Amino acid sequence: MNKVLLAGLAFALSSSVALADTIKIGVVGPFSGPAALQGRNFQAGIDAWLALNGNTIGDDTIEIVYRDLPAADPAQSAALTQELIVSEGVHYLAGYYYTPDAMAAAPILEEGNVPMVVFNAATSAIVNASPYVVRTSFTTFQTSTPMAEVARERDLNKIITVVSDYGPGVDSETAFVRAFTAAGGEIVESVRMPMNTNDFSPMMQRIKDSGAEAVFAFLPAGPATLGFMQAYVENGLKDAGVTLLAPGDLTQEPDLAALGDNALGLLTTFHYAVSHDSPENEEFVVAATKAIGGNAADLSFPAVGAYDGMYVISKMIEATGGEQDAAAAVEVVKGLSWTSPRGPVSINPENRHLTQNIYLREVAFEDGLYINKEIQTFENQGDPGWVAP
Ligand code: PHB
Repeated sequence: MNKVLLAGLAFALSSSVALADTIKIGVVGPFSGPAALQGRNFQAGIDAWLALNGNTIGDDTIEIVYRDLPAADPAQSAALTQELIVSEGVHYLAGYYYTPDAMAAAPILEEGNVPMVVFNAATSAIVNASPYVVRTSFTTFQTSTPMAEVARERDLNKIITVVSDYGPGVDSETAFVRAFTAAGGEIVESVRMPMNTNDFSPMMQRIKDSGAEAVFAFLPAGPATLGFMQAYVENGLKDAGVTLLAPGDLTQEPDLAALGDNALGLLTTFHYAVSHDSPENEEFVVAATKAIGGNAADLSFPAVGAYDGMYVISKMIEATGGEQDAAAAVEVVKGLSWTSPRGPVSINPENRHLTQNIYLREVAFEDGLYINKEIQTFENQGDPGWVAP
């Protein structure tokens, strides 16, 4: 074979390789253990997006690589993130259910030249941990702030706050206390519980003893939120007329059947309800239900964080033509706006977090299903908890 032909063959081979890259997305989340349903919702959101959009972008094929992180474990999160970048060669990182896990992974991104799209972790400060972090979920500061207005409109004057003692709990408490006191309300007590608390009876007694008219609470969605809600009912607080106010983590849809009629009327503020009425959500719910195994009652908010996260990653891949350039990939999604299943959203170019509607919802029973029924909209909410670094 002559030299020219050889060179031509080499060129054809290398360009065909370059033309058909596999883009790997490493997804870290709780796929086993007590919070496995939250991880299944990550996967359902990803699978729904792939089912509706296909797994190719231009000439690139997407491959998802999952890593299981059953509980909040920053050291293990850093180890898995490192392994995904170095051994697995992922081009994008995504997922991260708990704040400490996202925080531990963020410092690795710049050296690895890999963007990270947070599908859930909801502490405002996460986006400051690396310029390569983009978030498609919510912050607890963002979801908790409007609840102060709701409380005042309902003439609730004395409130006790109870939160999990870590990032999103502290943000949730700070947001609510700030907005509620600014609106003239009184906080009678603020309690922070260790993250691993699962006996809530003593806390319910403390809430009763505080003399508060309402309790504002945040815990990360999972078995503990259901336990907290059951304790609220079983210890007689609901019957005693102590109103419960919370961001929607506490009434995630898969927990509603277990709470049954006891949940009816509960008020929460959140960015997404599975019952949200829009064509985009209808399409999403059909695809995500199929992806999660056929039971719509298993769907919860992490699925929409993942679905929108896949959209954002697809835009990054499209714009960089599959080239590994984290800075360029993040740059192109700053200011991106689209209609999510949750409603209109846009990525704030300053903090790479979503500006979105926050809805007041009331637990209702419709067509044989307990739902979070949206009854009021707080439009275009930024993240009031974000402070420029
Ligand atoms: C978090 O750790 O950031 C987190 C987890 C679950 C939630 C909300 C926030 O429901």
